[in-house]
Amino acid sequence: MHSSLALAVLAGAAFASACGDEKHFQRVRRAAASSAAASRTVAAGTSAAAAATAPSRTDEASNAQITNAAEECTPYSYPPVAALQAAGVFPEIWEIANLSTAQPDVTALFQSLNGSIPNIAPKGTPAGDFSGVNYDGATDPDCWWTYEQCHTPKAKGLQSDVYNLATPETWGLTYDDGPNCSHNAFYDYLQDQKQKATMFYIGSNVLDWPLEAQRGLTDGHEICAHTWSHRYMTALTNEQVFAELYYSKKAIKDVLGVTVQCWRPPYGDVDDRVRYIAQSLGMQTIIWSDNTFDYNIATLSRATIEGNYNEILNGGKNGSYAVNGTIVLTHELNADTISLAEEFLPKIKEAFKYVAPVGVAMNNTEPYVESGYTYPNFAQWTAGTTSISLAAPTAVSTDASLSIPLSTGQTGSVSATVAYASAAATSSSGSGSGGSSGGSNGARGTAQGIVGAITAAVVGAIGAGAITVML
Ligand SMILES: *[C@@H]1O[C@H](CO)[C@@H](O)[C@H](O)[C@H]1NC(C)=O
Ligand SMILES: *[C@@H]1O[C@H](CO)[C@@H](O)[C@H](O)[C@H]1NC(C)=O
Ligand SMILES: *[C@@H]1O[C@H](CO)[C@@H](O)[C@H](O)[C@H]1NC(C)=O
Ligand SMILES: [Zn+2]
Repeated sequence: MHSSLALAVLAGAAFASACGDEKHFQRVRRAAASSAAASRTVAAGTSAAAAATAPSRTDEASNAQITNAAEECTPYSYPPVAALQAAGVFPEIWEIANLSTAQPDVTALFQSLNGSIPNIAPKGTPAGDFSGVNYDGATDPDCWWTYEQCHTPKAKGLQSDVYNLATPETWGLTYDDGPNCSHNAFYDYLQDQKQKATMFYIGSNVLDWPLEAQRGLTDGHEICAHTWSHRYMTALTNEQVFAELYYSKKAIKDVLGVTVQCWRPPYGDVDDRVRYIAQSLGMQTIIWSDNTFDYNIATLSRATIEGNYNEILNGGKNGSYAVNGTIVLTHELNADTISLAEEFLPKIKEAFKYVAPVGVAMNNTEPYVESGYTYPNFAQWTAGTTSISLAAPTAVSTDASLSIPLSTGQTGSVSATVAYASAAATSSSGSGSGGSSGGSNGARGTAQGIVGAITAAVVGAIGAGAITVML
């Protein structure tokens, strides 16, 4: 039975305040950056004191010293990134990424998988209006997460999304939508707490705030991608889905020096078509099992978000996570979500036995393609090792090539090995095949967000029940 997804009515109220609604992201223009630099020069000419205290934004360490939020969020030009942009290596920031005729190698990479992508039509609009979509909710043929939080793909050969943790009583700590320009005080706090997290960085933000992105890696956090421009992925064409993932992965490679193997879909909006392209690009899909809805603080109030946090904390205290740990959706989106993160970290540590990055809980000691970045496994983490050994972040001024575990020629299944999901698979690189659909997280329990607490995103009934759209 085909039913119409009636999300449009909500679009105004719920989606406008959602995580990553375009206007919530600061769009930084390089022209603005250079005029700011020019006015600094003028100011320096008139005041020697101002020149002496002008922040240095030439490397990660000096940039990390700035703690005045307004100063942190003043655009700057970082030569290695400016050079890459001048060379036309990247799409326009904050625009939907697409293939470029100027980059035939990337197009060729796409074409090598174009024929085997599951034949699923794009749904709705990139801004998340699914009102015109006819979807067979009864069978959920595309395993569309947005519809009913499906995370076990229907298409053959695809790995399940990681949405919870095999380790009990564990809070998988994740922060989305960074790097936030004014995150230094928050990252200082995490450092004081010896707390690492998984950071899902948006490619456009990485180019806007490259030194802030480098800090994430320097501090020992686990870095994953969160697409190029933060759109609803199931609405995009195959070419756009590919480019959104490819260029976010490339931005992180060029600015931080590492090739990530994990990503989180904005709004959780993923289906088997999108999963296939992500897996082909060597990226494991990470969702969540609990949602704080912190990104909605402006419309839901701080008290409501605190209530959501508390509900998860209560679960931690009363045994809800005795079998599987949880991965929780939280953000470094703005000052409010960051202050909630700081308010709750001590309480999380009280209510849960372990608080760890997702990769650590999955014993994924080498999360990147590159060697030289070794994270503790879960046993080491729980025994007190929270540091990582890492090479310094690097920004290159030439176009670094990406290592993509793509292997073509198989029909009907993805033959890429996604190293992220399997520590064992990382040691035998090069084979490029044999990606099993196993998924490393054997747990198949029920995992839903905070049900009931939030009604803003609950939409009209279809078939058996209401659809909850997690933003
Ligand atoms: C991918 O395949 C489709 C369907 O055959 C085709 O229309 C499209 O042009 C291809 N894309 C590229 C970039 O080659
Ligand atoms: C970061 O946080 C600040 C403070 O809330 C906010 O103004 C800014 O838009 C955020 N976004 C980015 C990309 O830094
Ligand atoms: C990680 O290692 C711990 C033992 O230290 C184990 O309990 C857990 O199941 C492992 N996680 C995965 C995803 O294999
Ligand atoms: Zn997001």
